[in-house]
Amino acid sequence: MSGYEFIDHTYDVIVVGAGGAGLRATFGLAEAGLKVAAITKVFPTRSHTVAAQGGISAALGNMGDGDDWRFHFYDTIKGSDWLGDQDAIEYMCKEAPSAVIELEHYGVPFSRTEDGLIYQRPFGGMTTNYGNGAPAQRTCAAADRTGHAMLHTLYQQSLKHEATFFIEYFALDLIMENGECRGVIALDLATGKLHRYRAHAIVLATGGYGRAYFSCTSAHTCTGDGGGMVARAGLPLQDMEFVQFHPTGIYGSGCLITEGSRGEGGYLTNSRGERFMERYAPNAKDLASRDVVSRSMTIEIREGRGVGEHADHIHLHLEHLGPAVIQERLPGIAETARIFSGVDVNKEPIPVLPTVHYNMGGVPTNVHGEVVTLRDGNPDCVVPGLFAVGEAACVSVHGANRLGSNSLLDLVVFGRAAARRAAEVVRPGTAHRALAKDACDAALARLDRLRNAKGSRPTAEIRLEMQKTMQNDAAVFRTGATLQEGCDKLASTFASFKDVGIQDRSLVWNTDLVETMELENLLLQATATIRSAANREESRGAHAREDFPARDDARWHKHTLAWVDVDGGVRLDYRPVHMQTLTNDVEPLPPKARTY
Ligand code: FUM
Repeated sequence: MSGYEFIDHTYDVIVVGAGGAGLRATFGLAEAGLKVAAITKVFPTRSHTVAAQGGISAALGNMGDGDDWRFHFYDTIKGSDWLGDQDAIEYMCKEAPSAVIELEHYGVPFSRTEDGLIYQRPFGGMTTNYGNGAPAQRTCAAADRTGHAMLHTLYQQSLKHEATFFIEYFALDLIMENGECRGVIALDLATGKLHRYRAHAIVLATGGYGRAYFSCTSAHTCTGDGGGMVARAGLPLQDMEFVQFHPTGIYGSGCLITEGSRGEGGYLTNSRGERFMERYAPNAKDLASRDVVSRSMTIEIREGRGVGEHADHIHLHLEHLGPAVIQERLPGIAETARIFSGVDVNKEPIPVLPTVHYNMGGVPTNVHGEVVTLRDGNPDCVVPGLFAVGEAACVSVHGANRLGSNSLLDLVVFGRAAARRAAEVVRPGTAHRALAKDACDAALARLDRLRNAKGSRPTAEIRLEMQKTMQNDAAVFRTGATLQEGCDKLASTFASFKDVGIQDRSLVWNTDLVETMELENLLLQATATIRSAANREESRGAHAREDFPARDDARWHKHTLAWVDVDGGVRLDYRPVHMQTLTNDVEPLPPKARTY
C-alpha cells in the first residue's frame, strides 16, 4: 500500500509486551544466544505486572504443615472447576519451585522467615493433602509488592543479557503468510514512524483485556492488543467467557486490595457485622476461591446486607492485625486504602466490591507457549512462528477460575517454556525469506482507515458504552436474558465503531488514534466474551448462570473457541479439555463436586 514507509528489522525472535511473561521470555531467549527484541507500548517496569501484589505460588514448603507440588496441582484443577488442561497444570506446578528459586537467585527481594527462607502466605483455594489438610502457605511474597519486585528483576536480567527494547512502540498487527506468522508491524509513538519486524518467532505477551469493563483493577493499558491481533489474523480465542472478579477492589476506584490481606488474617463483613463467608464456605471461609467469595459478596449486597449509605458494598477488616503486621506485610495496602478510600486500615475497615481482575481466556497455546488452532479436526494444531504467554494466553492452567498467585507463576513458567521452545526451533542467525508484496496491506489499510476516521462518535463514547454493557450484562451473575441483551447492545456498539471519529490524523504521539486502535482490540474481545458466555448453558468457575446454576460436565466439559471477525461476527466451536497428565508423577483428576 502506497503512502507509508517502513523501517525494517530482522530478529530471530520478537517479543511483544514487556511485563512479567514478556521479560521472562525475552531474557530466556537472549540467554540462549538468539537475537531478540521486545516491543512494548509502555516502559517495561510500568507494565501491569507491577500491580501484582500478594505473591507467586510454589510448593516450597517453607512455612506451614509441609507442601507438595501435587497438592498445588490438585488445588489448581479444583480452582479451575475442572476446565484447566491437566498436562499444563502438572507442568506449571512441578516447575514452580525451580522457577521461584531462580527468581530468588536473579535478585527478587522476597520477604523472609526467621530462618531466612522465602516468606509464604496462605491464599484462596490453596490447601494441603489434596484438600484434606490445613490451608497451604504457598504464596511467596515480597511484602505486598511482589509483581513490582519481579518486574524490576526481570528487566535487569534482560538488560544484563543485552536484549534490545523498542519502548513506547505500539504493535499494530501480525504479518501472516499462508497460516504462518512471519513478523509484526509497530508504530513508534514518539516519532510516528512505522517499523516492520521479520522474525522466525513472535511471542505475544500483551496481557489481558480488563479495560473492556467499566470497573477493573487493570491498568488503562490492559487492552488485549495481542488478542486483537490474533482475532484479525483469523485465529480463535479460547474460554473468553471466564472473567475473574477479584473480591476486594476498592469501592469506587476499583484499585486492588490484595488477597494477601485475607491471607494475613483479614476478613469480610456485611452490614450486620457478620463474617458471612462462614455460611458460604464453612472450611475455607474468607480464603475460598475468588469466584466463590465474589458471588457470596454479591448475594449479601443483593439481599440487602451491603454496607454504606446505599448498602452496595462490603467491609474488609485489617484493624485487628495491628500496625506491626500491616507495616511489615501490607504496607502498600495501607497506602492504597488511604489514598483511594480515605481509610486508615489500623482503625477502620476498607470498603470493597468484586471488581474485574483477570481474563482466564486468551490465545490458545500448548505447554510450550506455541499458539494452537483447530484445523482439519485437530484442535492442537500449532500455528508456525507464533507463541503467546501470560494473561494474553490460555494454556489453559486456570480453566474457569484462576487461583490467586497462580498468575505470577504462569508468567514465569510459561515465559521460560516459550523461550526454551523457541530456542529449540529457531537456529540463531537463520536467514529471513522475503515477505510477499502485499503482506502488510491489510494492516496498513486499517491504520489508514482509522487515522482518517471522521465519523460522529468519539472513541471515548463508544468505549464507555462497551464498558457499561460488559459491566451490567456479563457480570458476576449472568442469565440468558441479560447475556442476550448484552450481545445485542454490544453488536450495535461494535457496528457504531464504523462511525468513529478522531481529531487528528498525525501519527506522531497521537493518543486519540492509539486509543481507537486499542478500542477495536477491546471490542473484538468483549464480543468473544459475551457471545461465548451466552452460549455456555451451565455454571462453572467464574461463569455463574442463574438460569443454569449447576455445572454440566456431560454437555460443557470443553473449551470454547471463538473466532471474531472485524465486523463483530462470531463463530464458536469447542475443543476437549486435556484430562491426561504429562507424566506418571501424578494421576489425572476426574471432575467431582467443588466445595470450599
Ligand atoms: O490479590 C492479589 O494479590 C492478586 C494476586 C493475583 O491475582 O494473583
